Amino acid sequence: MKKEVRLLKLALSYKRQILTLFFLSLFSASFGLFIPYISKLFIDKAFINKNAHNFIKLSIVSAVLFLISTLMNLIANVVKNRISVRIKLDLASGFIKKIYLLDMAFFNFKAAGENIYRLSDTESVANFIVERLPGIGLDLVKIPIILAISLCINVHLTIVLLILSPLFLVHRVYLQKKLRSVYEENWRNRAKLFQEITESFSKILIIKAFALESFQHRKYVKSLVENIRSLIKSFRWSTINTLSASFLSKGILGLVTIYGGWMIIKGQLTLGSYTAVMIYLVQIGALLESLGTRIAYLSNERVSIDKFYEIMDIAPRIKDKPNAIELEQIKGTINFKEVTFGYENDKAIFENLNLEIPAGSWVGVVGLSGSGKTTLMNLILRLYEPTFGDVQLDGVSIKDIKLKSLRSNIGIATQQPLLFDLSVKENIRYGLKSLSDTQIIEAGKIACIDDYITGLPQGYESFIGEDACRLSQGQKQRISIARAVARNPRVLILDEASSSVDAYTEERIFENLRAKRQGLGTIIISQRLSSVKDADKIYFFVKGMAIHGKHEELLHRSQDYRDFFQNQL
Ligand SMILES: Nc1ncnc2c1ncn2[C@@H]1O[C@H](COP(=O)(O)OP(=O)(O)OP(=O)(O)O)[C@@H](O)[C@H]1O
Ligand SMILES: [Mg+2]
Repeated sequence: MKKEVRLLKLALSYKRQILTLFFLSLFSASFGLFIPYISKLFIDKAFINKNAHNFIKLSIVSAVLFLISTLMNLIANVVKNRISVRIKLDLASGFIKKIYLLDMAFFNFKAAGENIYRLSDTESVANFIVERLPGIGLDLVKIPIILAISLCINVHLTIVLLILSPLFLVHRVYLQKKLRSVYEENWRNRAKLFQEITESFSKILIIKAFALESFQHRKYVKSLVENIRSLIKSFRWSTINTLSASFLSKGILGLVTIYGGWMIIKGQLTLGSYTAVMIYLVQIGALLESLGTRIAYLSNERVSIDKFYEIMDIAPRIKDKPNAIELEQIKGTINFKEVTFGYENDKAIFENLNLEIPAGSWVGVVGLSGSGKTTLMNLILRLYEPTFGDVQLDGVSIKDIKLKSLRSNIGIATQQPLLFDLSVKENIRYGLKSLSDTQIIEAGKIACIDDYITGLPQGYESFIGEDACRLSQGQKQRISIARAVARNPRVLILDEASSSVDAYTEERIFENLRAKRQGLGTIIISQRLSSVKDADKIYFFVKGMAIHGKHEELLHRSQDYRDFFQNQL
């Protein structure tokens, strides 16, 4: 019930538009409502007594009403399209904004393909607001009006109809439930199919390299068949719905027709009144049918509405506090105070971790794969939050700092370079409009990728393909480092960001960083001890703990570190 109320609230935020649409449609539909009554007048007042004067008068009135209703119809359509576009835009933009604001944890459980597929739900929600709501409203207004007019014309016939109509409602309630579950199944199958195909195209290299094209194709066909099966099921149920609704409305109409015919024979009804009431009854039949179809659509849209709110209802845990502060002139000291953290609650990766990264220092973080190095970066960026304890920047808990302010002061280059299908220049600039071309080139030089880029026919304007598929891994990594450096952060975290770069070039990048970005706090996460040997301080992650010191000190103090070092020689 809560969802319905909220949906109505959402619809109410467009109340002006919906009401405009509703009244325009009502006006344009009113001509249809008058047709039977005018027909009655034609028959009883003009045709039966052959009255030319009445005939001309009625013809003129009909023509004027017809013109007005056509005009209204036209305006209603134009308005509807405009409102529809606006609402779709609002919803899609709000939905995507919401997804961007969700915690990283959400993305670990929801595949990208499914999220993209969900965008189509906003379309259904918009259709609900623009089509279904005013449409059902209109039907519900039209039915009593028609009933009232036909009651005025003939009470008996209308009462017979009123007695039979509840049958229709019983039918609706039963089918509504069935349709909803069928549509839900449909939604899940389509989302899965969409997800599978998005993922397989993004991993095409593996599919080809493992020569699994036909395996992948079979998998797709299997899902497709499942999808089609549930589609057929939904077609079956919507046909059952439409046919039975039509059968019921026509059956009810047939009974009323027979009863009306009987009344004419008995002389209790004029031919004009009979014709008018019959047309009204046909209209009511059509209205009940259209209400049925609309309700079937509604069942489908309800599934999308549920999915839409599934996302809109998630409250991100990681967001700015109301009184969060903006950082000015930060130094860049990072402290972990008794930090306990696990991605899943029962599996702690760190327990009571204490750590200090002094401002402007060169710190190495090493440890075996899976020991929590990347996790450390995630916590500094507040992509995840500690279960207990606190992460601080310059003595201020990062929870009290505006996310944007925190993240724009920390530059990162990740294990996977994650580049976009843009030019090299736009990849380095990535969203930072204030960066000049000179700054971009300087960043390229620091990351030792400038030589390669300038050698390309289009230099920094070259496009590198989706996920930078036209570059080698080491080149991608260097562009990713340039992107981090160009933002001129106060702290730079390189998470195995040069693991595919040869040791000589890596050393040159570090030298450039030291020379051109003096005082920049740099955290180098690496599996290669050679990358961090000269660091001011090394954190060695082992067995859920972090021991620290200079390289020589650690060699001296820790057997684990010595083993780690020996294994790399
Ligand atoms: N998003 C996640 N959800 C759940 N568990 C995760 C997630 N990311 C990492 N982990 C787990 O957390 C642990 C630490 O992972 P992390 O990525 O920090 O390791 P790492 O030291 O960076 O390893 P590597 O050197 O291989 O990059 C691993 O055991 C991993 O399985
Ligand atoms: Mg890692």
